[in-house]
Amino acid sequence: MTTSLSLSCSFGFEVPNSRLKFRDTRSLKVSCDYSRFEIRDVSYRPPGTQSNILSGVSLSLTERSFGLIFGRSGSGKSTLLQLIAGLSKPTSGSICIQRYRDDGSPHQSPILSSPERVGIVFQFPERYFLADNILDEVTFGWPRQKAGLPLKEHLASRLQRAISSVGLSGISLDKDPRSLSGGYKRRLALAIQLVQSPDLLVLDEPLAGLDWKARADVVKLLKNLKEKVTILVVSHDLQEMAALVDQSWHMHMGGMLKEEPLPL
Ligand SMILES: Nc1ncnc2c1ncn2[C@@H]1O[C@H](COP(=O)(O)OP(=O)(O)O)[C@@H](O)[C@H]1O
Ligand SMILES: [Mg+2]
Repeated sequence: MTTSLSLSCSFGFEVPNSRLKFRDTRSLKVSCDYSRFEIRDVSYRPPGTQSNILSGVSLSLTERSFGLIFGRSGSGKSTLLQLIAGLSKPTSGSICIQRYRDDGSPHQSPILSSPERVGIVFQFPERYFLADNILDEVTFGWPRQKAGLPLKEHLASRLQRAISSVGLSGISLDKDPRSLSGGYKRRLALAIQLVQSPDLLVLDEPLAGLDWKARADVVKLLKNLKEKVTILVVSHDLQEMAALVDQSWHMHMGGMLKEEPLPL
């Protein structure tokens, strides 16, 4: 038997062209239902090109688990993450979140994945920092004048939660993001995405370009975040990630994805 109690409220505003994509996520549930993030037979051919970058890709990742995609350069991994984040649309197939009852039967229709539900951290995210202080970097695109007090309080609490979930609470929000160490820049990039409480966090090569200490720091952070959010990473750093990985897939050349154990 399933009992579910949900508390919800809606803030109903939109900020065009912003990184901030709000929706209501507060809920209290007593339930054995679970959800899976599912890619169903997705193919992708960029407009004006002759061949597919991705061919019949399927993947299913249970909520609050950690998935890793590995494979050679040019096989289509980053393209897949961009489709997942809604930055381009599949040529065919679908990307959705499906809820299941505790007996494994699907619960309601699948919800199509949308940019509000997915946070994406690109490879070398610090290259895309825009502001000259951490506060502006995280709140880039937030409403400035029109927000009333309840909304401002809500935004402030989201900001605080995101900053503390990546261990940046001890750092002054006045600091220039470019002055942070490599590992702390990655923390900031994660906070920017976590502020919207995504269902899924996707990261493209999260350890690339970091020294050994920062790499260990990011791995530890991802281990903590895994408790709160479903994570899918693309990485070549299989040894360092192995302890976190629940499921793994090999992207073969030509954009064909197969579930395979990590080749350690
Ligand atoms: N918009 C595009 N138009 C044409 N080809 C593209 C486009 N985006 C990526 N590609 C090609 O698709 C292939 C897969 O790229 P990518 O997803 O970046 O691979 P990976 O991340 O696995 O290295 C590459 O051959 C790349 O050149
Ligand atoms: Mg790539």
